[in-house]
Amino acid sequence: MDTVLSGIRPTGNLHMGNYFGAVKNFLKMQHEYNCFFFIADLHSLTTHPTPTDLHDNVRKVLAEYLACGLDPEAATIYVQSDVPEISELYLLMNMNAYVGELQRTTTFKEKMRKQPDNVNAGLLTYPVLMATDILIHRATKVPVGKDQKPHLEITAKYARRFNQIYKVDYFPEPEAFNYGKDLVKVPGLDGSGKMGKSEGNGIYLIDDPKVIRKKVMSAVTDAGPTEPHQKMSDGVANLFTIMKIVSTPDMVKFYKDKYNACEIRYGDMKKQVAEDIVNYLNPIRERIQEIYADNDYLRKVVNMGAEKARESASKTLKDVREIIGFKPF
Ligand code: TYM
Repeated sequence: MDTVLSGIRPTGNLHMGNYFGAVKNFLKMQHEYNCFFFIADLHSLTTHPTPTDLHDNVRKVLAEYLACGLDPEAATIYVQSDVPEISELYLLMNMNAYVGELQRTTTFKEKMRKQPDNVNAGLLTYPVLMATDILIHRATKVPVGKDQKPHLEITAKYARRFNQIYKVDYFPEPEAFNYGKDLVKVPGLDGSGKMGKSEGNGIYLIDDPKVIRKKVMSAVTDAGPTEPHQKMSDGVANLFTIMKIVSTPDMVKFYKDKYNACEIRYGDMKKQVAEDIVNYLNPIRERIQEIYADNDYLRKVVNMGAEKARESASKTLKDVREIIGFKPF
């Protein structure tokens, strides 16, 4: 059976991009595959969180995962730092990762731009740690959003390279996975690229209906089409992309036809999108509060997850140590 793995950095609350890019696929996969879903708290150290923020964010993201419907009985749900085997394999994988190729990674270049005062070595080797997360369970399918595709390609390269160096066929080459074929990129409401935590353009799973309506109503659009079938501006195209995710196909067609006939009223479309988002997220938001308050349950989930994840990780680490040549006397 295929092994599936995905994770999320605990740097704030989950937004619609996280949900529709990664978590939603996972909800279905957890009943069909051997699944691991984790909170990437080691990864979040690249931004130097305070100790209090670090722990609070892990708790928040865990409660949000569970509120989305991740099932700790079906999938192994764990916190990355609870599995020390990951750190050891990361050290070993670093020996086969070349500095030049890491410096050329698009995500590293982006980070250098975003946090020029904190270009730490962890940022440079971020793809190695991410590859380790995946390879430690020898996962083959990784449900992620489109932005993570370069990291998956690097992971496949490291798997191949390890196998070549040691003349083994040990690590499978994983692939980014989405049930709908194409990887998802949920756009922001500000007419820019993707919805993201650091972009400040997100709709969060914990946002209440009032906040959601306000955010959607202030989404960037334009003065309206002046000729039939006019090419859409980025803001309008983004609004349609979000509508496709949360509304019915009939509703999308209705507004597309209106657009193409130059009769669209963006205000009406935004109201519809806002209501559909609210209806989608309402049950999740209600569960988040409840689960977040139940520390006994959260502790039980992470303890159970750590045990199962360590069992799988230590098996891989033992094999890798042997392949590399660490032998008992
Ligand atoms: P992170 O925490 O930035 O995002 C978590 C997941 O959400 C997806 N995502 C999006 N998908 C579509 N549209 C968007 N606007 C959007 N924003 C975020 C991301 O693609 C991701 O799937 N490096 C990873 C965490 C990680 C990981 C791993 C993931 C660490 N190790 C191993 C998979 C496997 C990250 O920073 O994701």
